[in-house]
Amino acid sequence: MFGRDEIDDATVAAPPAHVAIIMDGNGRWASKRLMPRFEGHRRGVEALRRTVRAAAELGIRYLTLYSFSSENWSRPRTEVDYLMGLVKRFVRNDLADLHANNVRVRIIGEREGLDAELAELLSEVENLTAANTGLTLVVAFNYGARQEIVAAARRLAQKVAEGTLKPQDITAEAVAANLHTHDIPDPDLVIRTSGEQRLSNFLLWQAAYAEFVFIPLLWPDFDRRALETALAEYHARDRRFGGLGETDPPRQANSG
Ligand code: FPP
Repeated sequence: MFGRDEIDDATVAAPPAHVAIIMDGNGRWASKRLMPRFEGHRRGVEALRRTVRAAAELGIRYLTLYSFSSENWSRPRTEVDYLMGLVKRFVRNDLADLHANNVRVRIIGEREGLDAELAELLSEVENLTAANTGLTLVVAFNYGARQEIVAAARRLAQKVAEGTLKPQDITAEAVAANLHTHDIPDPDLVIRTSGEQRLSNFLLWQAAYAEFVFIPLLWPDFDRRALETALAEYHARDRRFGGLGETDPPRQANSG
């Protein structure tokens, strides 16, 4: 069983509740070994499995993984098809194991435009694991933060146009409640592998007060040790949330 039943050392700092990862560098990992890019993605799934297990064992409550961005459609058709196939295989092969380990899976991103079989599989994995109480694995798939914010703005504008919402009721909480992540707390820590230092349209709203750790490892080489290194760096930071010292984050409707 993944996960931690008891805290073995009361002096160990509590892990961040929510860690989000931009899994970058699969292509470079493969190129360095004169392998085709898809081999990097295949090995990337192995790193993903290791990371889900490690996160649960370390007591992290939410783990979000950026798996396919709205912009990734511009990659060559063969690579896009390979990534879609990889996700289908992952769901088929790993669903029983995730469920047995009490992992709850949530998918964020646009479902429209996905092939029907994949959309069906994503719903199946969410439905089967909905009542699980262990790690929540949030898979950002066909996800783009700007698109997410635009959709939330449109939904709120629609309510104003219908007369069911007043413009002055459009608050930060109201926006957050209309994002894909409405039931997920904001990330405390965002990790990006491969040495690149940018957000690439990932959780732009939700990461407002997150700490960022950039790791030079390419994603297929990521493991529990790398995660622990990132957590140690996170713990060494002084989170101020715009104030003068360690304090609470600004209240969010979704900060549960
Ligand atoms: C970034 O590497 C990685 C991706 C765009 C895809 C990540 C996907 C997986 C790890 C596996 C599929 C997901 C699931 C949920 C099974 P890159 O291709 O941008 O690497 P590069 O920057 O070195 O070219």
